[in-house]
Amino acid sequence: MTESKYTRQTVSTVKWWVPGKLFSLTTTRDPSFSFAAGQFARLGLPANLAADEEPSIWRAYSMVNAPSQDGLEFYSVVVPEGEFSPRLASLGPGDSIYIDKTAFGFLTLDRFADGGDLWLLCTGTGLSAYLSMLQDPSTWTKFDRIVLVHGVRTASELAYNDLLEAWSHDGLPGTPQEGSARFTYIPVATRQALPGRPQARITTLIEEDGLAELAGFDLAPERGKVMLCGNPTMVTDARKLLTERGFAVGRRGNLGNLAVENYW
Ligand SMILES: Cc1cc2nc3c(=O)[nH]c(=O)nc-3n(C[C@H](O)[C@H](O)[C@H](O)COP(=O)(O)OP(=O)(O)OC[C@H]3O[C@@H](n4cnc5c(N)ncnc54)[C@H](O)[C@@H]3O)c2cc1C
Ligand SMILES: NC(=O)c1ccc[n+]([C@@H]2O[C@H](COP(=O)([O-])OP(=O)(O)OC[C@H]3O[C@@H](n4cnc5c(N)ncnc54)[C@H](OP(=O)(O)O)[C@@H]3O)[C@@H](O)[C@H]2O)c1
Repeated sequence: MTESKYTRQTVSTVKWWVPGKLFSLTTTRDPSFSFAAGQFARLGLPANLAADEEPSIWRAYSMVNAPSQDGLEFYSVVVPEGEFSPRLASLGPGDSIYIDKTAFGFLTLDRFADGGDLWLLCTGTGLSAYLSMLQDPSTWTKFDRIVLVHGVRTASELAYNDLLEAWSHDGLPGTPQEGSARFTYIPVATRQALPGRPQARITTLIEEDGLAELAGFDLAPERGKVMLCGNPTMVTDARKLLTERGFAVGRRGNLGNLAVENYW
């Protein structure tokens, strides 16, 4: 008998951030499933959820929790016409979900040398990968300063913002303040004005030095290490702007100061 490539897990909790659009869910975790912060799992569901069938639809989802935390957490958008996300959104506690035994992906912090400023730039659910990194205490000692920029359409889509605001004031609970990175959280919306924030795309903020102004220091390749995650047009456009500034993806074993991941 061939061994299965996936395990069957159980949904533990579901939380809706924006009804019908954005939710997160936690699941049980196979004891042998290991990953690095920033990696993704392949989640599977059967086409007919009501039947006890083998999974046939698979999608990539970044882990939200840190590798050392129990269980697994995922944060998802609902694409109304999508094949997978509406099915995922219909699950409740006790339902089955299938998870590939291997974690995948290269949006991990070992792409960068230690020290300097870590800039985590994302749109929408691209936040997931960074939540995992930020919940990993080692991230806080690897860099001097960390900036997270979350670009969304409207304020209601700023999921996990209470947690992120708390970390920006107090650091990660359980991590000593001394030797820990200073963390700045910059939420930006494009289709609604947020108090005290520019209403602008991340790319516009890179181009016009708005990020440096909001963070209080320069976005420069000498000290900065940048990750881009989420909408592929944002990733392409931001990558171009950052390349023009001297940022580069690592090649052939050399560490770079730019790393990117597209969600579709
Ligand atoms: C490496 C990787 C990690 C990913 N991690 C996550 C994650 O943590 N959370 C998550 O919600 N999705 C994530 N995705 C996207 C996810 O795999 C699915 O594409 C998504 O859930 C929609 O699935 P679907 O079958 O309903 O629609 P699909 O047929 O897969 O997509 C249809 C269309 O929906 C749009 N779309 C797809 N995903 C998103 C999204 N995340 N946000 C906004 N629009 C989208 C695009 O226009 C896409 O062409 C990731 C994708 C990759 C490649
Ligand atoms: N948001 C909704 O109202 C809504 C409702 C129901 C379902 N959905 C589903 O959700 C999906 C969209 O999800 P989403 O709103 O999280 O993702 P999104 O469309 O990628 O938008 C997220 C943020 O990224 C910005 N952005 C888009 N392209 C960019 C680029 N090239 N450079 C810089 N920034 C860029 C957007 O700005 P702009 O605002 O300027 O585009 C927005 O601020 C759709 O596919 C749809 O199926 C959305």
